[in-house]
Amino acid sequence: MLNIILFGAPGCGKGTQAARLAEHYDLYHISTGEVIRSEIKRGTELGKSMEGYISRGELAPDSIVVEMVRDFMRTHNDKGAIFDGFPRTTAQAEIFDTMLAEIGAKVDVMVFMDVPEEELVRRILLRGKDSGRQDDSSEDVIRNRIEVYRQQTEVVADHYTKQGKYEAINGLGTMDEVFARLTEAIDSKR
Ligand code: AP5
Ligand code: MG
Repeated sequence: MLNIILFGAPGCGKGTQAARLAEHYDLYHISTGEVIRSEIKRGTELGKSMEGYISRGELAPDSIVVEMVRDFMRTHNDKGAIFDGFPRTTAQAEIFDTMLAEIGAKVDVMVFMDVPEEELVRRILLRGKDSGRQDDSSEDVIRNRIEVYRQQTEVVADHYTKQGKYEAINGLGTMDEVFARLTEAIDSKR
């Protein structure tokens, strides 16, 4: 089992690199943001209740997101996974650790992808032209997502630093350069 948390602000490249890492290490990949967007797309009750949070760039409630991950773990618990955009609060991290412990697993490493704010905004605005993501289109919402990250999510790094599992890499450069830094950081913790 290898469980990796990809950590960083909106637009830092989590989704891009998670897909490549999942292939490289033969792991599952879960993006809680993608799970929420798919619920919204399918028009489920859960999706409808999530729309407001997403369009404002706020976090969804911990209890709901944690249940999404618990559901995923029921059917994806044999080889490990890349967790992209989760956990995003200390409360989520604590529940997540317990959830993994219950199946005899643990987080192996959290890798933080460091990208300056102006580059984050530039990347998301560029993607917003054709992503169709409702939280990509306005600069106000993008800046709010980054602010929410600073206020509520950044602190989760301390949780895994205390466990000796935190690694940070420079998220600037080509996708290949960033991928090489990520695998080096992950391999150092295996
Ligand atoms: P989520 O879907 O997780 O979005 P996010 O964290 O805001 O991050 P993004 O998906 O926008 O960026 P990314 O880091 O994946 O970067 P990407 O690879 O796409 O969450 C959305 C919402 O869902 C949240 O706001 C919240 O409401 C809710 N939510 C989700 N999880 C939650 C949780 N745990 N708790 C509560 N609420 C939750 O790259 C960005 C762009 O840059 C792309 O166009 C890409 O092609 C480009 N790019 C990538 N790498 C590079 C590079 N090296 N150089 C240049 N461009 C690059
Ligand atoms: Mg993403």
